[in-house]
Amino acid sequence: MSQKTIIITGGAGFIGSHVVRRLVNKYPQYTIVNLDKLTYAGNLANLSDIEKKPNYIFEKGDICDTSFVKALFQKYNPDAVIHLAAESHVDRSITNPLDFVMTNVVGTVTLLNVAREAWEGAYDSHRFYHVSTDEVYGALGEDGMFTETTAYDPHSPYSASKASSDHFVRAYHDTYGMDCVISNCSNNYGSHHFPEKLIPLSINNIKNNKPIPIYGKGENVRDWLWVEDHARAIDDIFHKAATGTTYNIGGHNEWKNIDLIRLLCAIMDRKLNREPGASAQLITFVTDRAGHDLRYAIDATRLKEELGWEPSLQFEEGLERTVDWYLENEAWLEQVTSGAYQKYYEQQYS
Ligand code: NAD
Ligand code: DAU
Repeated sequence: MSQKTIIITGGAGFIGSHVVRRLVNKYPQYTIVNLDKLTYAGNLANLSDIEKKPNYIFEKGDICDTSFVKALFQKYNPDAVIHLAAESHVDRSITNPLDFVMTNVVGTVTLLNVAREAWEGAYDSHRFYHVSTDEVYGALGEDGMFTETTAYDPHSPYSASKASSDHFVRAYHDTYGMDCVISNCSNNYGSHHFPEKLIPLSINNIKNNKPIPIYGKGENVRDWLWVEDHARAIDDIFHKAATGTTYNIGGHNEWKNIDLIRLLCAIMDRKLNREPGASAQLITFVTDRAGHDLRYAIDATRLKEELGWEPSLQFEEGLERTVDWYLENEAWLEQVTSGAYQKYYEQQYS
């Protein structure tokens, strides 16, 4: 297989670290450059198992900084970008929308501009892969699923910023002929997930006998996908997708938040040798998220039919493995929940 140099942005985050790990291990002939600003969500400990591999390089920097990104392109002459860097948490976007415009929109356009200039005249052999979310499609009612042709209808500042970045990526394909691909994925879960998100936050709270905050009545539905299945889908799409294509990625695995948390509580009771039902007593209904989308569900038929991708894990098994990872990695959890996390938690949940 040919040699390639790939810049992966956001590689120190949750999904990015799984993508970096997969590509570094699977393609020793590639050079993987991880470009990450190391915000509160970025953590080099997520990559401690591969950081010494000869085909892995870390570069700290901001995707909004044109001079830095240009210098990085000059230094590495990359064949491709896989772009995951983003502000990713909906609740934070409600408090600080401009941070999301900066990173998710301006940062993406900055990368596109530098790539366009660097690759001009050779777009056929250079790929820009933009990793996006199902939240751009808005909310579903009781029925139906998002397909690749569902109209965009974002509701939160986060999803509006991701929708905007998707439009820019498509515009650079249509206007300049750049080789761009996009994927829109449903909710991921698994190891190294920052405990501001529902599943790791709940695991951490159950472990510490703290209330589990459920927004509204817990009726909202999400379609959960094992993060390593997402990384595999990104690998497949990066290597096989036709230029200009979009793929939806999802788990065919819809759960009401309250049902998911009850399952998680039962797993935690077993793992922590608690009486059955003990952890569920921590469930606490709190004020709903503003503009809270009722239901997401992804139709990933195109990805299955064209590239042969399917989710590999049953949710119960994936959730159990996730719980095991958090219980076995207490130092990681303590590191990310100390300091600034405490302040965030108080502001969000007090
Ligand atoms: P995350 O918040 O865990 O990680 C984001 C990473 O980006 C961090 O390492 C952070 O340091 C880095 N980053 C942030 N701003 C940066 C900047 N200006 N310059 C360079 N690096 C910067 O996010 P995640 O959950 O891993 O999501 C990764 C991508 O996948 C995002 O684009 C997100 O929209 C998308 N996505 C996430 C999910 C999900 O369930 N988490 C689902 C679908 C799509
Ligand atoms: O659908 C893909 C998206 O999934 C990604 O694009 C986002 O980056 C990612 O953060 C995730 O967004 P959600 O808002 O769905 O994830 P979160 O874990 O924040 O919330 C999941 C559900 O749980 C949602 O209905 C809100 C609810 N929730 C969340 C938190 C943090 C609670 O009830 N209580 C909580 O404390």
